[in-house]
Amino acid sequence: MFKKKPFFIVFEGVEGCGKSYQSKKLYNNLKKKKISSILTREPGGTESAEMIRSLILKDYFNKKIKEKFDKYTDTLLYLAARNEHVKNKIIPALKQRKVVICDRFVDSTLAYQVYGKKVSPNFINNIHKTILNGLKPNITFILKVSPTASKLRLSKRKIKNRYDKFDQSFYNKVQKSFLRIAKNKMNYYVLDSSKNDKVLENKIINIVLKHIIK
Ligand code: TMP
Repeated sequence: MFKKKPFFIVFEGVEGCGKSYQSKKLYNNLKKKKISSILTREPGGTESAEMIRSLILKDYFNKKIKEKFDKYTDTLLYLAARNEHVKNKIIPALKQRKVVICDRFVDSTLAYQVYGKKVSPNFINNIHKTILNGLKPNITFILKVSPTASKLRLSKRKIKNRYDKFDQSFYNKVQKSFLRIAKNKMNYYVLDSSKNDKVLENKIINIVLKHIIK
């Protein structure tokens, strides 16, 4: 039997890895089992955090502006959005003993800003200490994808985001960073998502049920 309890699940991976698709599938599968959950994302998830998200993405797309956000400004915006999201959505939902499914969280900041852009990890860790106050995902799914599969998925997208244009070597670097983050860690599941089929969807719901139904 499922005894209602707070549970925090995060999906991570490079663009085109299928994490948004799989997090939606998980949300629907939990709903079918009448397990109360919310589906959210980063950057974003609340009205104010979504405003910050569009600021980040607009900066990248506005061709007229030559002056782009410095990498520390960019990082602070991700962290500002996270603060809004954690305080106004994640914590309240966990307090209501819901399952929270989040499309990206702190490991994205590690992979993109620290490993990708060489932002100081101490700078980020210090801010995280204050804004997260010990909040950690119960489980994290890292979806690993082949370059061919991610390229194909990205080419089908109507709305491109800033990293959709980056070259393959950047993706490879980010994916490697996610794998490095997951290495030897408890509660991390690295799953191949190149196929994005029912097999993966079932694997994910079974892992989650194993954790939450005791
Ligand atoms: P999305 O593609 O999952 O919607 O995410 C938007 C972009 O934001 C994606 O390219 C990854 C990037 N990102 C970071 O660079 N750092 C972060 O901390 C987060 C949450 C996202």
